[in-house]
Amino acid sequence: MRLTGHTIFITGGSSGIGRALAEQFHARGNQVIIGGRRASLLADIANAHPGMAFIPLDIGDPDSIAAAAARLLADFPKVNMLINAAGIQQVDDPGSAIDDAALTAMVGINFIGTVRMTSALIEHFKRQDEAAILHVSSMLGYLPLSQVSIYCATKAALHSFTLAQRYALRDTHVRVREIIPPYVQTDLLNGKADERAMPLDRFIHDTMDALAGEADEVIVPGAQERRNRLRGDEIAMTAAFNDMMGTI
Ligand SMILES: NC(=O)c1ccc[n+]([C@@H]2O[C@H](COP(=O)([O-])OP(=O)(O)OC[C@H]3O[C@@H](n4cnc5c(N)ncnc54)[C@H](OP(=O)(O)O)[C@@H]3O)[C@@H](O)[C@H]2O)c1
Repeated sequence: MRLTGHTIFITGGSSGIGRALAEQFHARGNQVIIGGRRASLLADIANAHPGMAFIPLDIGDPDSIAAAAARLLADFPKVNMLINAAGIQQVDDPGSAIDDAALTAMVGINFIGTVRMTSALIEHFKRQDEAAILHVSSMLGYLPLSQVSIYCATKAALHSFTLAQRYALRDTHVRVREIIPPYVQTDLLNGKADERAMPLDRFIHDTMDALAGEADEVIVPGAQERRNRLRGDEIAMTAAFNDMMGTI
């Protein structure tokens, strides 16, 4: 995929993976707009990168998504790429009662908000000559870690939605790709100093390399083998299954 000449809205652009992707795409001359809740931090990041813009966004709030999408489309009518990087992770115990606030927050932000954000732009994207939706899922969507079970379930749901959306858009100019990070050193659940996690700069370097290729599933080399052991070619299987089912 060409990594230049796009107008890109990045949710979760105030921190970690979303921010680093924003800086990489900005450095390649793309028009980048970052979204997130911390408006003053977004402003600082945009100011440090002349030409970068920001739009405040709470992806857990449908009104905020609608307002951000309206502003994005009005101010940047050429927007043709969405990177859904906003996400949260909280510890839980699936062997006990799940805290309802944590459950609804994680499902609301990681899954419902991501689908809503995508829905707000999808018709616009279909009218573009070239567009792309990049969902940031997680290796934990493929292999659950019990102590963050709800987080893993939201990412498994996002992975399933991604497969289905890619199939639905197969005859359009809208490309659907899934960035599937392993454990990366970011603020997510205080993983920044965890030596078991991949350094952010190495992850981003390898991810930009993979994005320049054509694979729909964007996985850094260290995680590719693990993903292949866990699953088969789900993209081909999804296409074959949906073709066989036809219209229901
Ligand atoms: N780090 C890892 O090990 C890892 C592994 C696999 C997948 N991922 C995924 O990668 C993505 C980025 O996470 P990260 O590791 O970079 O963590 P991070 O540094 O904590 O960044 C999370 C981002 O999400 C934004 N966000 C959270 N809640 C939001 C809301 N309600 N509305 C709008 N934005 C919201 C935050 O911005 P504000 O606080 O300003 O709103 C922040 O920019 C997430 O989807 C995460 O699940 C991370």
